[in-house]
Amino acid sequence: MSSSSSSDNLSEVDTSNLPSHVAIIMDGNGRWAKKHRLSRIQGHEKGSDAVRAVVRTCREIGVSHLTLYAFSTENWQRPKKEVDALMALLNKFLRSEQKEMQEKNIRLNVIGQIERLPQDVRRELNKVMTLTEKNNALYLHLALSYGGRAEIVRMVQELIKKCKMGQIQPEAINEQLINEHLYTQGIPDPDLLIRTSGEMRISNFLLWQIAYTELYITPTLWPDFDKQEFLQILKDYQRRERRFGRV
Ligand code: IPE
Ligand code: IPE
Ligand code: MG
Repeated sequence: MSSSSSSDNLSEVDTSNLPSHVAIIMDGNGRWAKKHRLSRIQGHEKGSDAVRAVVRTCREIGVSHLTLYAFSTENWQRPKKEVDALMALLNKFLRSEQKEMQEKNIRLNVIGQIERLPQDVRRELNKVMTLTEKNNALYLHLALSYGGRAEIVRMVQELIKKCKMGQIQPEAINEQLINEHLYTQGIPDPDLLIRTSGEMRISNFLLWQIAYTELYITPTLWPDFDKQEFLQILKDYQRRERRFGRV
């Protein structure tokens, strides 16, 4: 994957009005593979090149937070062969990217049920999270075994536990306290949510956090999603008027 060149239209993006947090539902690897008469697993492999490119672009233009939906709680129901291949691919990605992440001051974070992931993947994730913990140019949040409803259930359980132990009063529960008990604690809500491959749904992603997020759905299949299109979407975002319920 080539990095930036003078042919892209980076200059047309207003860097003073960037979304602080972009979240992406990376969908369509299977359809891309089918279209090219390849296996679904080869589709996922091609998808990981698109991941690398979008991370580089965010770092280059100055987006502070990028959250990538890589594996949902529902995705565990896929055939074991596909799940195993996705986990192996994740491991490979972490191994190959850690050097660049470190050089480019990118910090890795995971949101989701990290405890459900295979041990080798967990070990690699923990290693890269520790390695990059002082970095702050771009926060890369990988949503792994992530589900918005599971996240909310976990938050409710934690709050009730704290109430029972007398650490908090039920009356003290407010939006801020809820935020502090989600996987995304400390991360600003997404400003922009992109979904590739045309599906008009959220698929259990960041349910609480996207209350006022701008949505952009593109028919492009994830492996075909490139820097050019990402910059186009950022420009579209910059033309929008965000009202947050006001006039
Ligand atoms: C997205 O691509 C990747 C994951 C969900 C892990 P899909 O595998 O869902 O691709 P489609 O939707 O079948 O095309
Ligand atoms: C959403 O894609 C999850 C990820 C991109 C990781 P899915 O392909 O799993 O979602 P549905 O099944 O189309 O809703
Ligand atoms: Mg899909």
